[in-house]
Amino acid sequence: MPGPHPVEGSVGVSGMSTCLEGLKEAHGRPWPKELIALGPEESAQQMVLRRIQELSDSDQQDPFMLADLDILASRHQAFCQALPQVSPFYAVKCNSSPWVLRVLAALGTGFDCASQVELEQVLGLGVAPSRIIYANPCKPASHIRYAARHGVQLLTFDSEEELTKVAQHHPGARLLLRLRTQDSQSIFPLSTKFGASLEACGHLLTSARDLGLAVVGASFHVGSNCQTPQSFTQAIADCRCVFEMGRGAGHDMSCLDIGGGFPGTEDSGPKFEEMARVISAALAQDFPEERGVKVIAEPGRFYMESVCTAAVNIIAKKAVLEPGGSRKLMYYLNDGHYGSFRLGHREPVPRVPIVVKEFCSEPPLFPCTLYGPTCDASDRLFLEDVRLPELDVGDWLVFPSMGAYTSSMSCSFNGFLPATICYTMGPQLRSLLEAEPESRVG
Ligand SMILES: Cc1ncc(COP(=O)(O)O)c(C=O)c1O
Repeated sequence: MPGPHPVEGSVGVSGMSTCLEGLKEAHGRPWPKELIALGPEESAQQMVLRRIQELSDSDQQDPFMLADLDILASRHQAFCQALPQVSPFYAVKCNSSPWVLRVLAALGTGFDCASQVELEQVLGLGVAPSRIIYANPCKPASHIRYAARHGVQLLTFDSEEELTKVAQHHPGARLLLRLRTQDSQSIFPLSTKFGASLEACGHLLTSARDLGLAVVGASFHVGSNCQTPQSFTQAIADCRCVFEMGRGAGHDMSCLDIGGGFPGTEDSGPKFEEMARVISAALAQDFPEERGVKVIAEPGRFYMESVCTAAVNIIAKKAVLEPGGSRKLMYYLNDGHYGSFRLGHREPVPRVPIVVKEFCSEPPLFPCTLYGPTCDASDRLFLEDVRLPELDVGDWLVFPSMGAYTSSMSCSFNGFLPATICYTMGPQLRSLLEAEPESRVG
């Protein structure tokens, strides 16, 4: 079998990286073996190819995910540069891998948690409760009690029933009223499930006051992978109305949460910088800085999508003749809908992987259905076929930009375990983590 060689973007493998296992970090513990320190000239892409080579040479061709933590740090920097007036509270649901959270904790982001387990994960890193928002408008009572016991005060709500629960289980909470948005243009809309209409807000604000609860602001989410930056403009203007209503009801309105929805890559749809310009203009109009309102956001996809690369192996293959006589291929991969590709059915266009194989000349392409490994016939990566060359069992496919809503949504249906994750980091990030208190890196 030839060595790994991507059809696109071929790179060599230098053999310079070190597994950080055995290296002692500041607190005398060994670094875990899933963490790879990149040498000065090395890239995470080279590590993917090296790992593929190692696995191909062994008898284990399990799928894996490689997370480039330096990209995560640069996404954080890009967010803060484009929206300096907004504090990011990373949406843990997007990717809750331990090293992702550790790096973000060290970089100083806040965190948006959706459940007790996510709260536990973030608090367990030594993050102060004041850096956490429990941003699920419909929460189990026991999780609300957990937040109360651990000092997590900032909570969202969008209904009277939630207010009743919070009054009973967390009377000292500081609440943000989540507003419904016009998010039908987003790839993953959320407003059918969450958000109060503007008309309902007046009543909710007086109900909160009558229950003795403090509403401190408003929040919204324009839908994940928002395609229309103007959705932010409208939602921010609506929040201004909610702030006025809240103040009228006697609440001290001081926090605006503009949610997530920022693009994960620049491949299609609106560019992040353009979106940030639209948001900044809307904030300047409706929440000018001199009013002293704290503005936060809950980015997930923007931070994580480009961080991870998934490598999957072809475990079985069939060739079929279509009614017109044309040839079609069915590839069965060891990762699929129940693994890293849960959202593949809902993405507007299928992702075309990089083929890790050497060809003498430009190979012909065939329509290919990419199936996952389970016995469920709907376990396919995408609803549409992709065009790929003729490949063999044992060949590898690489999918870049697989960091958002992938590992965090995978399960072990049919006994196929989620892809293992390894992480790369360069020297700068490593120094930052070494300087962290023990609770963050242990
Ligand atoms: C409440 C909340 N905040 C933030 C996010 C993150 O959104 P995104 O990944 O689009 O930035 C989500 C995603 O579903 C969400 O439900």
